[in-house]
Order: sequence, then C-alpha cells, then structure tokens
Amino acid sequence: MVKGKVWTLKTKFDGKVQKSNFALVEEEVSDTLKDGEYLTEALHWTVDPYMRTSELGRVEPGQCMPGEQIAKVIASKNSNHPVGSIVRVYAGWRTHTILSNEPSPRVIKMPEMGDLPLSLALGTMGMPGMTAYFGFLEICQPKEGETVLVNGAAGAVGSLVGQIAKIKGCKVVGCAGTDAKCKWLKELGFDEVFNYKKVDLSEALKAAAPDGFDCFFDNIGADFTATALKHMKTFGRVSICGQISAYNNKEPPKGDYPFMFILGKQLKIEGFIVMRWLQRWAEGEKAMAQWIKEGKIKYKETIYKGIEKMPEAFTGLFDGANTGKAIISA
Ligand SMILES: NC(=O)c1ccc[n+]([C@@H]2O[C@H](COP(=O)([O-])OP(=O)(O)OC[C@H]3O[C@@H](n4cnc5c(N)ncnc54)[C@H](OP(=O)(O)O)[C@@H]3O)[C@@H](O)[C@H]2O)c1
Repeated sequence: MVKGKVWTLKTKFDGKVQKSNFALVEEEVSDTLKDGEYLTEALHWTVDPYMRTSELGRVEPGQCMPGEQIAKVIASKNSNHPVGSIVRVYAGWRTHTILSNEPSPRVIKMPEMGDLPLSLALGTMGMPGMTAYFGFLEICQPKEGETVLVNGAAGAVGSLVGQIAKIKGCKVVGCAGTDAKCKWLKELGFDEVFNYKKVDLSEALKAAAPDGFDCFFDNIGADFTATALKHMKTFGRVSICGQISAYNNKEPPKGDYPFMFILGKQLKIEGFIVMRWLQRWAEGEKAMAQWIKEGKIKYKETIYKGIEKMPEAFTGLFDGANTGKAIISA
C-alpha cells in the first residue's frame, strides 16, 4: 500500500472560491497491480480557471477536484509505461493514481519536450498553450500590421497570445491587473500595456489604438468585453476564450449588451473550447517548442511547493496572485 493524498471538493462553490471549499484527505493506494496496470506519482499539477466552472455540473462534494498532472510511473505491469516513464494524465488533484490501458482517467499524449521543463506540458506546451495557439490563430486569423487586443495578458493563455501576435507581425495591446505584470508584458514585447484597475477602460483602449482593433482575444468577459467591442474596427475578429470575471458570480452579469455594435461593425465573434483541436495539438506543441528554442516565446511559471498548496494556487487565479502559469510541484 502507498499513502496518497487527494484534494476533494468539501462544499459547493458559492460565489468567490475559498480555500475552505476543499478538503485534503489521505487514501491508501494498492501497489499490488493487475496485468496492464501501472501506478503513478504526481510531479506537477495545474490549476486552471475552468475548474471553477466545471464544478457546476461535474464535481460533487466528496469527489476529487479535476485536472491534469504530470506524473512518474513508480510501479508497473504495463510494458508501454515502464517504471520511471512520464505521463500527462487527467487524474485530478491527487498524488497517486492506478492507470491501465483503459481510457479513464484520460492519459493525454506528452508533447516532445526535448530538454524543456516537464511542467511546461501543463502550460505553454499544454492546454493553455494550445488555447493560445489555436484559439488565437484559427479564430482571429491575424495578419501582419494588424492591431490585437488581449486582456488577462499576463496569464498563462494571454501572455502567449500576445507573443504569438508579435511573431505574426501585429501591434499588440495588453492589459493586466498590476504594474509588475504590465512591466513583464513590456519585456515580452507588447507594444502598449496598461493596468486595467487604474484606468478608464474606454480611454485606455482609445489611447492605445486610436484606429481601433482588428483582433480581440477575450479572457475576461462581461463589462470588459462590452467596452472593448466598441473599439473594434469594421470586420474585426473576436475570439471569446474565457469569462473569468464572471466565474464567481452568483447571477449572470447584467450590463450594456453590445449586439448593435456587433451588427454595425460586422464583427466575427466565435467562442471555442480548445479540445476542438485536440487532434492537431502536436502541430501547436511543435510550433511552441520551436519558438521557445528561438527565444520568440518566453514563459513564466508561478510555482507553489507541495500538493497542500493547491487551493491557494487555485484561489490565486481569481485574486490575480499568479503571473504566467500557475503550477504546483510535488
Ligand atoms: N476556451 C478554452 O478552451 C479555454 C482554455 C483555457 C483557458 N480558458 C480561459 O482563458 C482565460 C485565461 O485562463 P488562464 O489559464 O490563462 O488563467 P490566468 O490568466 O493564468 O489566471 C487568471 C488571471 O485572470 C485575471 N483575473 C481574474 N479575475 C479577474 C477579473 N474579475 N477581472 C479581470 N481579470 C481577472 C487575473 O489577472 P490580473 O492580475 O491581470 O487581474 C488572474 O491572474 C480564463 O477565462 C479561462 O477560463 C479558456
């Protein structure tokens, strides 16, 4: 038997995520394996905003919090997964997992990492990276010389969208919630940055792009979106990636609905879920690895030490406490 730890949902989320929503429980995991089984121990976990929303239908109190992890095989009766090999698996907030060739919990093929840190398979080379790569390139279809707006720009997804836009020859405007994050965005090559907590949003957008935006990659939603849509150029393209400003709301946001602007400006607005391109992730992973090697994509991770820190890392997503990708390492 191996002693494992699991973070379960203790109480349903009600408004803002609290550390008290979670309970850390110990479990005994058998290391007596059947043929085809292998036992993994997590090395890195991720916390992502969707874990707040997926709770609505999928996780009940007492169940393990969902999510991917990078784990090492520590015992095996499966020749495809020998001891010491690494897997990326949707096993949730737990230390130890017994896996088999059965597709549950879901093993997600590891990207070719070369000598890159394994944790990047949860960030730049993982789901957030693929969100930036496909969600921006496929939906916004950016062209050289165009002006791109990205909010949540110092986050896991936003920081990559801005850099990809620069690679594509665009002018990039980004915003984040602290001056330190804005400084980092300048270091990444963003052309215009502002701290959205300190400005009048409409004035800041007008100053950054007097002629308006061709592309808008939206991580935040609600009031920000309604305001930003008014600054789009005719035939602009908008990728609706996330609505993090509304995830903790008890009621749907009420506000200034922008449908007349969408019509008048003939905007193309599309929502997406990154798994739409799962069959093409290898293409995105290859591009990211190449851009990292060439120094065109830089990444930052906010690393928490130990599974005990998972709720802190998670609530940090909604407090703006993390820069770049939030990772929890064993
Ligand atoms: N469609 C998909 O398939 C897909 C996949 C992945 C992620 N997403 C979405 O993409 C967005 C970004 O995800 P991520 O993983 O990159 O998270 P992240 O940006 O690394 O972390 C969240 C950041 O959002 C900002 N934020 C939090 N609450 C806010 C609020 N009320 N108003 C404005 N900003 C707020 C904070 O930054 P500041 O300090 O700047 O406020 C915080 O650091 C999320 O909405 C997520 O749900 C969608």
